Amino acid sequence: MTRGQGTGPVGVALVGAGVISTQYLTALSAFPDVRVLAVADLDTERAAAQARAYDVPASGDVTSVLAIPEVEIVVNLTIPAAHADIASAALQAGKHVYGEKPLALAPSDGAKILAEAQSRGLRVGNAPDTFLGAGLQSAARAVQAGLIGEPVSATAVTQGPGPESWHPSPEFLFQYGAGPLFDIGPYYLTALVALFGPVARVSASARQARGHRVIGSGPKQGTTFAVEVPTHVHALLDFAGGPSAAATFSFDSARPRRMIEITGTEGTLSLPDPNTFEGPLRVQPFGGGPGADWRDLPVTGTTAGRGIGVLDMARAIRAGVPHRASGELAQHVLELMATVTDAAERHAVVELESGAPEVRTLPADWDPEAATLT
Ligand SMILES: NC(=O)c1ccc[n+]([C@@H]2O[C@H](COP(=O)([O-])OP(=O)(O)OC[C@H]3O[C@@H](n4cnc5c(N)ncnc54)[C@H](O)[C@@H]3O)[C@@H](O)[C@H]2O)c1
Repeated sequence: MTRGQGTGPVGVALVGAGVISTQYLTALSAFPDVRVLAVADLDTERAAAQARAYDVPASGDVTSVLAIPEVEIVVNLTIPAAHADIASAALQAGKHVYGEKPLALAPSDGAKILAEAQSRGLRVGNAPDTFLGAGLQSAARAVQAGLIGEPVSATAVTQGPGPESWHPSPEFLFQYGAGPLFDIGPYYLTALVALFGPVARVSASARQARGHRVIGSGPKQGTTFAVEVPTHVHALLDFAGGPSAAATFSFDSARPRRMIEITGTEGTLSLPDPNTFEGPLRVQPFGGGPGADWRDLPVTGTTAGRGIGVLDMARAIRAGVPHRASGELAQHVLELMATVTDAAERHAVVELESGAPEVRTLPADWDPEAATLT
């Protein structure tokens, strides 16, 4: 781990000024421990418009933004196919990098990013950071306190009709590196890995309901595009520490549904939608009898939104301690998703190679809006 570096708020630049950049700019602008110094995009007009909207002092192309000496962390919000190249460019410019999910398209690319960072004494962080939000942190504290006893199994479902109805440029969400497994899976899989540790082996099956989809909003509304990946995936996961999980990831269902339940020796916990930072968090102990229902649990922690993983990394850089939404965690989740795909294609049970770092829960009073770096 790198020693604590620098003083004061940490300078950040965003690369990628598309749909999700608005959530990052809103959150990061409210955190006194980071300063958003620049926004870059292939489309420099788009970068300039986002910079203007959030009072960010500079914008431009990637090269010019990477040359700003005060930028310490590059937040990579490009499409998945560009994640590895932008991460490498940022590391080569001497910057730490925090990326949107997935870490890269293939585990081999993710491993190169981690190796490059390590050789330069730089850090890699990666989304999702929803597992650091109030809902999933409260779940982690409940599990650690033994509320459901020893965890035995989990059931996770994320299904719906797919994002082409609302995203103005949804093609990338149906290409290699996305689909429901790689686009939505990271929220569910990161939540489970943060709770249970690494996955040891998987089996899976995958389908694709339609070979083409139609864009439902924005300037390209009505345009047909090709679907390149499975759009309905079932996975069975055996965690190295013992629990097992059944997970479904689908863009093929007319019926939207998102759930994770964890069953332990003493009861079942219903976790919040892991693509959010909030509750509800509910428990049902054994022995409730017929008609027993969930009991709501308190949800405490931050709901500040996408960007809290960047803030945790910024504070960790100054303190010289590990950050939580780490590249190593994202690499395990990437390998897990690639292995699920492989297992489905080969109709095989496939072992995983990578481990995953233990994720420390955030202190209950962790406050993103406090100025701790002076
Ligand atoms: N849209 C969402 O709701 C959402 C939610 C969570 C995470 N994400 C993730 O965020 C990332 C971006 O998604 P989005 O919806 O904002 O996509 P988007 O298509 O709206 O925006 C991506 C932006 O990146 C720019 N870009 C692409 N390649 C680039 C390159 N090589 N150099 C510089 N800029 C480049 C594009 O010009 C575009 O402005 C993806 O990894 C996605 O999985 C999106």
